[in-house]
Formats: sequence, structure tokens, C-alpha cells
Amino acid sequence: MTYDTVIKNGTIYTPEGAFVGDIGINGETIEAIQEGGGIAGSNEIDATGKCVFPGFIDPHVHIHLPFMGTNSIDDHASATQAALVGGTTTVIEMICPGPDDEPAAAFAEWKSLAEAGACCDYTFHLAVVRFDDIAKTQLREVVENEGVQSFKVFLAYKGALNISDENLLSLMKLAEELGVTITAHCENADAVDSMQKQLISEGKTGPEWHEPSRPRMVEAGGVNHLCEFALRTNASVYIVHTSCGVAVDKAMEARGRGVDVTVEAVIPHLVLDKSYAERPDFEGAKFVMSPPLRDASEHDALWNGLADGSISTIGTDHAPFNFNGQKDMGKDAFTLIPNGIPSIQERIDLVHTFGVCTGKIDMRRMVAACSTQPAKTFNMYPQKGALAVGSDADIVVYDPSFVGTFTQEDSLSKIDYCGYEGMERKGRADVVLLRGQVVAEQGTFVGSEGSGRYISR
Ligand code: URP
Ligand code: ZN
Ligand code: ZN
Repeated sequence: MTYDTVIKNGTIYTPEGAFVGDIGINGETIEAIQEGGGIAGSNEIDATGKCVFPGFIDPHVHIHLPFMGTNSIDDHASATQAALVGGTTTVIEMICPGPDDEPAAAFAEWKSLAEAGACCDYTFHLAVVRFDDIAKTQLREVVENEGVQSFKVFLAYKGALNISDENLLSLMKLAEELGVTITAHCENADAVDSMQKQLISEGKTGPEWHEPSRPRMVEAGGVNHLCEFALRTNASVYIVHTSCGVAVDKAMEARGRGVDVTVEAVIPHLVLDKSYAERPDFEGAKFVMSPPLRDASEHDALWNGLADGSISTIGTDHAPFNFNGQKDMGKDAFTLIPNGIPSIQERIDLVHTFGVCTGKIDMRRMVAACSTQPAKTFNMYPQKGALAVGSDADIVVYDPSFVGTFTQEDSLSKIDYCGYEGMERKGRADVVLLRGQVVAEQGTFVGSEGSGRYISR
């Protein structure tokens, strides 16, 4: 039998193990995986000396994000092209409506933007900010009719995206009833608000004061709080962008008490530290995100959590705001700096460089955290997240021996800086296939705009 495309002679990472062989693709689907090789295709891609991974899934991105008086700078075309050249073939975007917006209208707005521009596959977590009777009815409908399987809550951003405890408890009961996972940004909106006011009143206005305004215990307390509600309601919870060991510990204590809790790390917290936000001349603003970048000693806590399974997934929390014209809205007060750091393109190479090449995690753990676990946690497995017969042919032929430098010039995101500028980079996606089509080659997007598909979960 001849296949449309065969990826030949690469080290293939399947759920069962890694071996050298060939993958045969017909149409959009993997139809054969042959250890030792020997299958033929009309189009053949030589993967000798390369790794062959399932397409990576970013479980936490912001593309359309009206936030802190501005809107993140990417559109669906730029963000997803950046994702693809970095080896990410599916993104889960946070729909973040305002407090007055109806959930159904927000879902329709985000979906239509993605339909028009997205080049990789996509699905959504729906943030619940408004929670009155209209919203409750619409949330049920969006889950039932649109295949949304995860809500998002913010225990942060007082007066903007924050959810009250009364609504949180009620929402978690609804989520449990609907079988929907609650993804949560865990801090304490009131505590942060109070500490921000105190620091500003003392004249502490620069980006270096962002971390002290939201210390680790605030985040750990938020994790504990959410998990107590999960224990009471039986809802499944997923803690996004966990930045420090003490927050992971709180989640693991709750897991020990029977809470179904999954922990996510994001790449800025694994690679950068709070000294970046302390850079002079307002440069630190480029590195303001929430929860904030922590002391460098937290890196080991997070990598160890990934190695021992306390932390399941690695996302980006890609939230791109330009340094010029957006971050500088907070020149006089760090509380006005739009929160977010870009990394949708760099994630896999950063995990490979700082996690695999340093021996902190192995290649299989990288594949699990960046592809298989996001697919399993968010009901896309094994259509996504696996090299297996019958799965979508989302495939990354990865060159682990590539050496280069992270730089803004290589970025397909629209943002005007690179959060990892000048850092040594080990590894690169050589060829990326989305449902059987080659869409990226050696850092260049070669697909077509709008070819991404919505994944109903
Ligand atoms: O700083 C961040 N993380 N910005 C994006 C919004 C969020 O909290 O995820
Ligand atoms: Zn967040
Ligand atoms: Zn986020």
C-alpha cells in the first residue's frame, strides 16, 4: 500500500514508547506506524536523526484579549502562525468577556474571529465573569451545543475579571453537574488590590514592585481556596500558570484529600525570574505578568513538579502587549502595565533547551506535558495528543541538534519584543504537519490562512 505522505526513519514518540520507524498518512489521518520502517508514500519526508512528536497543544493562550484598557496585539492569524512554526498545532484560547457581556455572545465573537484567521486547530476555555440567570442558561447551552468542556475563573483582577465567592461556589456546582472542568487563575483579588494601593502610596511605582504586590502566599492561598470549594462541590479543577512550589504543594495537599486537581506550569515561570521585571529604564515592564515571575529558586520546584507528576502540563499564557504603546501605559504606576508575556512560538524549544537538555525532564515527559496531557485533560485524546493509528496527522519532525538564539526577528507574533531575546536555543521544529498538510518548515509558515479547525470537545 502507498500512503499520501510517509515520514521516514525518525525516532517516533508513541504513547507506548519511542522507536525508529515510519509513519504513513492518508488524508488527514495517521494510517500506519511501522517500527523499523519500510512503508512507501507519494510524498516522503526524511526524518533520519530527528524526533517525531505528536503536534503540541498549548492549553493556555490569549489571542483576542481586551484587558487593562487595551487589547493584546496578536490576531488569530499571527498568533497561530507563530504557534505552528514552533510546533504547536492546537491552541486552547481563553475567552475573556467583560462583566456585562453575555457568555453566548462572547463565545460567538471569539469563535468567529478564530474561524476567520486561525491557521492551527483551536478550542476554548470560556471565562465566567458574569453569572446571573441569563448567563447560567447560556453557559448550559454553550456546553451542550458547542462542545465547550472547560470554564475559566479569575480569583484576581478586582473590578474586572474577578468572580465573587458566592458565584464561584454556584458555578462549581453547575460545572460538576455538566461535567465541565474549572480552570482557575488562583490569587486573591482583594489582597492584591490592597497591597498594590499600599505600594503605590509609598511611591513604589516601578515594575519591580509588581511581584511584591502579589507574593507567593497570595497565590498559594488562592489555590487552597479553590480546592476547598472543589472538595465541597466535587468539581474538577485545573490550576493555570502555577508559579511557585508552595502553590503546587497546596494543590497536592488537596489531591491527597481527594480533590480532582490538575496543575499547569507556563513557560515564563520555568525560564525567567523576577530579576527580569527589575530591569532598569522600565524594561522590566516587558516581564510583568500575573502571577508574577518569582525568585529563580522556584524554577527547580516547578521542573521537579513536572518530573514527579505533580505538575501535568506546560502552556504559555501567551498574552502579547507591545512595549511601546501598551506596556508603557503603566510608566507611572506598575498597576497599569498590561499583564502578559509572549511565548506561543518559543514554548517547545524553551522546554527542550531548559528542561530536556539540562536533564530536568526527559523527552517523553516533554511530549506528555506539552501534548498528551493537555489532550487528555481537555477531552481531545486520542484525536489529538498521540501518534497513533486513527489520530489526526498533527506531527512535528523535530531537530534536537539545531542550535541558535531566540530573537524578535524570528517571531511571527506581532509583538514588538521577544521575552527570551539572546538566549541560546537548542532544537527546532523542522517540519510541522497539521492534519496531514505541511504547514511549517524550519521557522517559516507555509500553510494557508484560516485553515485551522474548531475542535468541539
Ligand atoms: O499576566 C497574565 N497572565 N496575563 C494574561 C491574563 C491571565 O491572567 O492569564
Ligand atoms: Zn491568569
Ligand atoms: Zn492567562
